[in-house]
Amino acid sequence: MAITGAARLAGIMGWPIAHSRSPALHGFWLNEHGIDGAYVPLAVAPDRLEQALRALPALGFRGCNITIPHKQAALKVMDRVDPFARRIGAVNTVIVAPDGSLEGSNTDVFGFRENLLEQAPGWRAAAGPVVVLGAGGSARSVVAALSEAGVAEIRLVNRSRDRAETLAHDLAAPKTGITVHPWEQRTEVLAGAALLANSTSLGMENEPPLQIDLTALPPGAVVVDIVYVPLETGLLATARRRGNPTVDGLGMLLHQGRPGFAAWFGAAPQVTSALRRAMLATFAAAH
Ligand SMILES: NC(=O)c1ccc[n+]([C@@H]2O[C@H](COP(=O)([O-])OP(=O)(O)OC[C@H]3O[C@@H](n4cnc5c(N)ncnc54)[C@H](OP(=O)(O)O)[C@@H]3O)[C@@H](O)[C@H]2O)c1
Repeated sequence: MAITGAARLAGIMGWPIAHSRSPALHGFWLNEHGIDGAYVPLAVAPDRLEQALRALPALGFRGCNITIPHKQAALKVMDRVDPFARRIGAVNTVIVAPDGSLEGSNTDVFGFRENLLEQAPGWRAAAGPVVVLGAGGSARSVVAALSEAGVAEIRLVNRSRDRAETLAHDLAAPKTGITVHPWEQRTEVLAGAALLANSTSLGMENEPPLQIDLTALPPGAVVVDIVYVPLETGLLATARRRGNPTVDGLGMLLHQGRPGFAAWFGAAPQVTSALRRAMLATFAAAH
């Protein structure tokens, strides 16, 4: 759709930025809603992040998304930060307030939760313990979302124990116990679990496979993989074959974009099968 001189502006800051799927995602919604707006990739070097963020109001931008490697650094530049972003230690969505100040939030938590609710509507936080694999940036969002949903026990398994200990410490919550387990015990900790979430990069295209024996996992346990290339990872294929409900990672990516789009462009976007097809086509085109 053609844009006019009055177009609403937003974008995504990262370094590098060419890999980002967000311009395709927001471009789909802008077209769908017939909005006079543009969402552009913004290649911002780390030493110019603050300068770039502070320029948003002067350029008339309504805000932006933040991606690798800026999510932690952006938090320090914000004038206001929502409690989730503060807890996680990372900002992925910036809104320029009418007075030009910057509001930072983290919508990965929202994205994980909405995707889980949509793809596994029968899951309940009270169903039992959850196993989370990984303690990187995205694991922090996954743990925060599960804790916020009311999960009482999270078994956190990571290759580097110190990183898992830090996450458990940073995201400690009164109603959620987070226990840390060695990577070698990833099979044993599945006993009695109601949900397994992979938030490592294992199983992603060009990464090693995730090697895990699901024998101990109850047949009704939900299996979530936040890796979305490929859409059906080895973990999800194994889980599906043994009858476990599965949740792929694409929906998390799509849902996390909704709050920013609504704030910048003034319309509530939906995650539809047409959007999923369009985004999958962009992955195929990248090969
Ligand atoms: N669906 C979505 O919207 C969404 C959003 C964000 C990220 N993701 C995906 O999630 C994945 C992780 O992203 P991230 O940002 O959290 O990455 P990250 O911060 O680099 O963390 C990577 C995690 O994978 C673990 N890991 C990597 N190689 C490993 C190996 N060989 N053996 C065991 N563990 C290994 C790391 O363990 P150590 O701590 O020991 O290094 C760490 O826990 C990526 O595939 C990304 O594409 C999806």
